[in-house]
Amino acid sequence: MSSHKGAATVRTPLWDWPVRIIHWSFALLIPALWWTAENGEMGWHTSIGTILMQLVVIRLLWGFVGSSTARFSSFVRGPGAVLKHLRSQNDTPTAGHNPAGGWSVVVLLGLMALQIGLGLFAGDPDDGTTGPLNHLVSSTAASRVTDLHETVFYLILAMIVLHLAAIIYYRVIKRDNLIAPMITGARAMPAGTTSMVKAPVWRLIACIVAAWLTGWVVWVGAA
Ligand code: HEM
Ligand code: HEM
Repeated sequence: MSSHKGAATVRTPLWDWPVRIIHWSFALLIPALWWTAENGEMGWHTSIGTILMQLVVIRLLWGFVGSSTARFSSFVRGPGAVLKHLRSQNDTPTAGHNPAGGWSVVVLLGLMALQIGLGLFAGDPDDGTTGPLNHLVSSTAASRVTDLHETVFYLILAMIVLHLAAIIYYRVIKRDNLIAPMITGARAMPAGTTSMVKAPVWRLIACIVAAWLTGWVVWVGAA
């Protein structure tokens, strides 16, 4: 059941369903954003981009008020903890991101937020494809923003490759399947491992309202 030899294991909750739904939405929407941009489907690009924006807002807020394993305070650790983790061969499993994985989560979410922020202002009004807030900046600024929007896309791509490489490394070398828990929400862990503490649903509703308001502000700004 588990690779931790000898230890009795128990099926333990690890990721709550908001984290899982948001994660698999990222995995669908990022390729869709690339495809729509490459194929000139800019109406779809900005609509999907706005949905992604709202999901990222929910995930960022969930990182402060959500379930224990979703919180930044539970997985953002100093360089000492990261080095110690990378050097140790048999670290004790915890329910949540390890210190190295935690930083990759911060970088992935940060790059997505940056890319979305740039996208809002990107584009050239003379060729008809612009982000909703493009008219608020000069055309010189907008063209610089558009260049950055392209550059940051490659950074996101590099991080996704690293993300998938880490997951394959865990699967093949460490014989640890990380994908199943990201689908089912739970995994076998040594008895006594601190389990995920779920956040109440009303907090999720508050995050969804905040995300909806963010979309509304963009929509008003676009008018
Ligand atoms: C993580 C999210 C996003 C990704 C991965 C992404 C990706 C891309 C890519 C690859 C391009 C083509 C760049 C080029 O080759 O010139 C592009 C262009 C563009 N994107 Fe996004 N995008 C994202 C979010 C957004 C959002 C949220 C908006 C606005 C709501 C947006 C608005 C635009 C616009 C207006 C362009 C056209 C720029 C131009 O070439 O004139 N993007 N995006
Ligand atoms: C294309 C875009 C993707 C993005 C932007 C992305 C981003 C992320 C982020 C931000 C997290 C942290 C989850 C959280 O705490 O909210 C995460 C975790 C995870 N992702 Fe992805 N992901 C992508 C694709 C994939 C794919 C295709 C797979 C599987 C084949 C995958 C498997 C996982 C797994 C297993 C975890 C949990 C890792 C752990 O146990 O610490 N991801 N991803």
